Amino acid sequence: MERKEFLKSLGAGAAFALTFPCLHGCSSDEVDGNLVEEPIGVDFIIDLNSAEAANLSENGGFILKNLVVVARNLQGEYVAASQVCSHQSYDQVRFVDQNGGIFYCDVHGSRFDQDGTPLNQVDNTAAKALKVYNTELDGTTLRVFE
Ligand code: FES
Repeated sequence: MERKEFLKSLGAGAAFALTFPCLHGCSSDEVDGNLVEEPIGVDFIIDLNSAEAANLSENGGFILKNLVVVARNLQGEYVAASQVCSHQSYDQVRFVDQNGGIFYCDVHGSRFDQDGTPLNQVDNTAAKALKVYNTELDGTTLRVFE
């Protein structure tokens, strides 16, 4: 299969991601992560007794699901935010134990408060808020939704 046919068979979105991985000025440094769209229509549940939720058993732990970072903050509350950074859309946002617990993207160092408020500015561009989601605990079932 020719390259052009291969890209066509993937669809426009995937072909774009493969063809232009460094739009918006990433440097020649290798970047871990992918450029993706921010998740929309988020609404899912997590069984806190399941294996996928193991990292939520302790304060400061987090998991990644459906491009959402679901974390148990340092006070034991569940918080959730987009895994897709508001800076340049890399899927590298994680929860880290800094400043009382923040969301952090290591691609260019963007930091966000737990409510999505940007805590710093990178590349001299206006920092945009990180999308955050609601969480609701019912017994051992955690719902994450918009
Ligand atoms: S994509 Fe630049 S800091 Fe996250």
